Amino acid sequence: MDSKTPLVETRRVSKRFGERKPHPFENLLQARGWMRPAAVTRALDEVDLQVMPGEVVGLVGESGCGKSTLGRIVSGLLPLSSGQVLVDGADRSSLSARSEHEARLKIQMIFQNPYASLNPRLRVDQIVGEAALIHAKVGRAELDDYVCAQLLQAGLDPQLRDRYPHQFSGGQRQRIGIARALAVQPQMLVCDEAVAALDVSIQAQILNLFMDLREQLGLTYLFISHDLGVVEHVSDRVVIMYLGRIVESASVEDLFARPNHPYTQALLAEVPRLQARNKLFTAIKGEIPSPLNPPPGCHFHPRCPHAMQRCREQAPVLKEIAAGHRSACHLNDVK
Ligand SMILES: Nc1ncnc2c1ncn2[C@@H]1O[C@H](COP(=O)(O)OP(=O)(O)O)[C@@H](O)[C@H]1O
Ligand code: SF4
Ligand SMILES: [Mg+2]
Repeated sequence: MDSKTPLVETRRVSKRFGERKPHPFENLLQARGWMRPAAVTRALDEVDLQVMPGEVVGLVGESGCGKSTLGRIVSGLLPLSSGQVLVDGADRSSLSARSEHEARLKIQMIFQNPYASLNPRLRVDQIVGEAALIHAKVGRAELDDYVCAQLLQAGLDPQLRDRYPHQFSGGQRQRIGIARALAVQPQMLVCDEAVAALDVSIQAQILNLFMDLREQLGLTYLFISHDLGVVEHVSDRVVIMYLGRIVESASVEDLFARPNHPYTQALLAEVPRLQARNKLFTAIKGEIPSPLNPPPGCHFHPRCPHAMQRCREQAPVLKEIAAGHRSACHLNDVK
């Protein structure tokens, strides 16, 4: 593997929820118009994403656009409907059971609500040690020392390891979740709205912890957030999603200085701190359409101030518009 090989890559990954083969009887009823086909949610539509080793990629978009679905697919927690996921250049579906297991451990997920993902009946040392023991990252004799080291690394006092999750604050619980993830020695963390539920001052502490861990362990991140302001602080590159598709991807500097896609421009206008330097952009009008019935052509056209006839008919493809900067908008062809 060379440094040009992404740690993880999705190729034309699509995910549809609610898809199932209808019973022949249902087919008959549907053919006669007596029954409607089951609604299918198109959560992801042919998504190409690459995350290089050591890179921090921020993934941004409004609620329901498919960020968590993509994060769970990258982490190996959710099967895809079509496409490929490559880990260190190898298609995950073609790996042996053992290699697939290794590939899955490499990428750990940190969730928004650590309380829901921590078993309330287990002590912190059990929560942090369990997976490491099962996956043979440590032997039973060294387990206690190992757990203490993980807790310290996540900024928690190891003396508290005999306590239960409810005895900790929200920020501390998130640190427990981080210690548990680190205990299986991952190369990458997928952080899904990992600070969204925390007070602003605690958010900053957890973001700092993520960045310290990056320095110390060389970790790679997919950092999912609906909040561009949070993403700006931690990311090297930002990927913007809209209704199951990536619409723009650029270095954090480029994206903020030269946002290309009208949706990105609208998102930037909504970051309050940035309003002073982005007076030109107008707020996003209208509701996000449903992925149950996405609009044809460019998914953003019902809300886009620049929509043309072509936008209603033809989906724009993600194209390189400058070095390392990709955008999916027909305006780039007419310029
Ligand atoms: N398990 C599921 N079953 C059915 N629909 C789902 C499921 N998970 C997500 N969805 C739908 O897929 C779309 C994308 O959801 P999600 O990935 O959670 O978006 P985000 O994280 O950006 O808010 C939404 O319309 C959501 O309702
Ligand atoms: S393709 Fe058309 S509708 Fe879509 S963002 Fe560009 S101008 Fe707007
Ligand atoms: Mg989500």
